[in-house]
Amino acid sequence: MLRRTHNCGQLRIEDAGKKVNLAGWVDSYRDHGNLVFIDLRDREGLTQLVFNPQSQPEMHKLARQLRCEWVIAASGTVGPRGEGLENPKLATGQIEVHIDKLEILNSSETPIFELQNAESVGEETRLKYRYLDLRRPVMQNRLKVRHKVTKVARDFFDSKGFWEIETPFLGKSTPEGARDFLVPSRLCAGNFYALPQSPQLFKQVLMVSGVDKYFQIVRCFRDEDPRADRQAEFTQIDVEMSFVDREDVMDIHEQLVAAIWKQVLGVDVKLPLRRMTYQQALDDYGNDKPDLRFDMKLKDISDIAGKSQFKVFTDTIQKGGVVKGLCAVGGGAKFSRSDIEKTFTKVVTDFGAKGLAWFKVIKNEQGSIDLQSNLTKFFTDEQKQAIIQKFDAKPDDLLLFVADKMVAANKALAPLRLKVGKDLGLIDEKAYELLWVIDFPLFDWNEGDKRFDSLHHPFTAPVPEDIPKLDTDPGNIRSQAYDIVVNGSEIGGGSVRIHQPDMQAKVFDLLRITREQAKDRFGFFLDALKFGAPPHGGIAFGLDRLVMFLTGTDNIRDVIAFPKTQKGQCLLTDAPSSVEQAQLDELNLRVQKHQM
Ligand code: AMO
Ligand code: AMP
Repeated sequence: MLRRTHNCGQLRIEDAGKKVNLAGWVDSYRDHGNLVFIDLRDREGLTQLVFNPQSQPEMHKLARQLRCEWVIAASGTVGPRGEGLENPKLATGQIEVHIDKLEILNSSETPIFELQNAESVGEETRLKYRYLDLRRPVMQNRLKVRHKVTKVARDFFDSKGFWEIETPFLGKSTPEGARDFLVPSRLCAGNFYALPQSPQLFKQVLMVSGVDKYFQIVRCFRDEDPRADRQAEFTQIDVEMSFVDREDVMDIHEQLVAAIWKQVLGVDVKLPLRRMTYQQALDDYGNDKPDLRFDMKLKDISDIAGKSQFKVFTDTIQKGGVVKGLCAVGGGAKFSRSDIEKTFTKVVTDFGAKGLAWFKVIKNEQGSIDLQSNLTKFFTDEQKQAIIQKFDAKPDDLLLFVADKMVAANKALAPLRLKVGKDLGLIDEKAYELLWVIDFPLFDWNEGDKRFDSLHHPFTAPVPEDIPKLDTDPGNIRSQAYDIVVNGSEIGGGSVRIHQPDMQAKVFDLLRITREQAKDRFGFFLDALKFGAPPHGGIAFGLDRLVMFLTGTDNIRDVIAFPKTQKGQCLLTDAPSSVEQAQLDELNLRVQKHQM
């Protein structure tokens, strides 16, 4: 076989006259009768090969047999392309290689889809023939960026004295709160391992073990329904550090993020990153992962709405709810009534709201600023002016409101804000707005079960000054958790942990985890805490989500070489599949109902 001297993205006009050997796949094929042109592709790019019947009749004849995706090696001389035939879009667009020797290394069946048109074929086909799909430059770039991110992370952590340590996949159920994937044990019949939802407890045990600074680029498994930004099997950049407070953890990890942004995108991220409390994020943006690429804050107008005659508003407020909304600047001029009553109302009702009230801001006949809608009759002039003032609204703006319990109103308004921002063209697709969200509540009240749930996980430490509230007011304790958010998506989260056994026991009590349950599930860990656990904290980034951002895709499957579908299937290999009865017997398992 001809040994490669260059790759297909490498040759430039300065190389003219050089004798080179290239190898790769036939990307495209043009037979002009006298000349055959092949675009040869490898992961680095495309190079045009030329076969000339006059100078190399044999090779030209051979070249005429070539078809897309055949694998070849070729040898020839680099030359400039003819006048006007340069391709400025291609790095190698100024040259071509005049081939005097061609080796066909392999033929290919006609590809199931044209690589250039892969985006128009169904994703299922792309996943089934993933090896074809992955040959596409856009996919190769995603793989490369993913590699780069892990490399930057590994170098970064190494330079800061972190050790990469592996933790088991076959383990005990972990506390991330999703459903576990279970693996039956053959040797301990009737028992199961759980695949880790994260290495949370192991990394904490590593801190007790004196490791001090740990990281791991690690697969995690959560048996949840996959979504656009969620896979059952995904990867974390997982970190834990000893003798730190939350500022230390945030500080080092924003440096990591800045290093990744710089080295992968060439973008400077300004540090320190903005910090926002959970409460402020909810008040102003309706959720704990605000997209700060545009402003448009939510405002609570309950004080005004409560005095109006609009029953929907007054009833809601009387029942302890709120009226909250946003001002779409210029939206009154831009959006029609049908945009509002169909599109925007659907957004909020899809997220559980009962309706959407709207007002257009106008200049009335007297030339002063006023509100217009079918609801204005329920409001006095004073109330209308107060609403206008609240938003500092201007003529042609549009005000949109949801009346509901605070949680429900926020749940509907957060996606509405995004939709309105998008439709108004306020989102700069090239911008990256990063922030830390801090001061989460430690607990969430679970009304159904009449107990508290951990908002993060049960090992998260409370903010020191809130510790006395563990006995008096657990619902109002803030935790030392932090999430890092980019453009409205959470890419990582972590916390300072509880390192005292009695505090851990108290938190389990509040979560209604009995001593027996705690002993059974986390006994090994509670024991470890008793033997000199240092103060510690950490974080985990979702590597897949990071790479989604860095490559500009909103589909998590695009950044995973061999992802699973919405139904958790691998279409390439056809997993999951049934197994032999003998395998089940060995595991002491009997399948009762086999659902296809
Ligand atoms: P958490 O559960 O918040 O924290 O996960 C950390 C990050 O992992 C990513 N992520 C996911 N990505 C793709 N698919 C999923 N199903 C998925 N689930 C989570 C998110 C998230 O921010 N042990 C703690 C971390 C810690 O406290 O140190 C943990 O796992 O980007
Ligand atoms: P109705 O009284 O149901 O005819 O609603 C009158 C207007 O109020 C309509 O524009 C509804 O979309 C709106 N609306 C109804 N319920 C709510 C709500 N919970 N929050 C905001 N607007 C609402």
